Amino acid sequence: MTTVLDVQRFKEEGQRFAVLTAYDYLSAKILDEAGIPILLVGDSLGMVMLGYPTTLPVTVDEMIHHAKAVARGSHQALLIGDMPFMSYHVSVEQAITNAGRFMQEGAMHAVKLEGGGRVVEITRQLTSMGIPVMGHLGLTPQSVHQMGGFKVQGKSDKQAALEQAGAFSIVLEGVPADLATRVTQALRIPTVGIGAGPGTDGQVLVYHDMLGLTTGKAPKFVKRYANLAEEITLAAQRYAKEVAEGTFPGLEHSYSANGVAAPAKARRDEVKYGAG
Ligand code: KIV
Repeated sequence: MTTVLDVQRFKEEGQRFAVLTAYDYLSAKILDEAGIPILLVGDSLGMVMLGYPTTLPVTVDEMIHHAKAVARGSHQALLIGDMPFMSYHVSVEQAITNAGRFMQEGAMHAVKLEGGGRVVEITRQLTSMGIPVMGHLGLTPQSVHQMGGFKVQGKSDKQAALEQAGAFSIVLEGVPADLATRVTQALRIPTVGIGAGPGTDGQVLVYHDMLGLTTGKAPKFVKRYANLAEEITLAAQRYAKEVAEGTFPGLEHSYSANGVAAPAKARRDEVKYGAG
């Protein structure tokens, strides 16, 4: 199983690594079996899974619900739970309580917090009690209204403070490539980029973006490795057409009176419908 020590070793050995978001049992199982070493239960799930316009409405309960499903599907990956807006901002006590929920109820191995400033002290407190923390700087979506929109962030001196506070890694989002490279070279802990160019130690993408499972134009930093939205549309239309034409289900998808599918070799032994 991947641990935070492995992530540190990746950096020391110059081994670039991939991170993907995961929000449910099946995608976590597929990604885990594909060998993705780190899965992030990102609060981006609020937008791609729940249809919120931003990540701000996401609650700890919603995050834990998805974290539990991901943990049931994954056995090898390091699992990181994203602490949502206002779940660690009120007080250190609140941050500890909610981070504890991610670890105990959500079965996560680490948590991620956005921002610097007061978040540095919260990071110090969490790491001092054995909760691994991933930082997140640059374009931090939970501060979308303060930044005046989703814009590339030009400078930051907060990374070193998070490293000193014990963070095991830092996400750099929407940061100019040369700055991200310089930050990566200056830090002992690994950086994970998204829209931050090729110079970071790892890269993270949102599962749905990477698979082309979104509609509309993708942001510049996204590479679509598949076009699943198109595939699903075509499959659904083909299915509806065959139902309308009466060509689905065919004989091979139907059962005879004795409960055996015809032809028998098309029957999946593990499926027990109890027809006969
Ligand atoms: O919520 C999320 O998916 C994230 C990644 C984009 C880093 O924070």
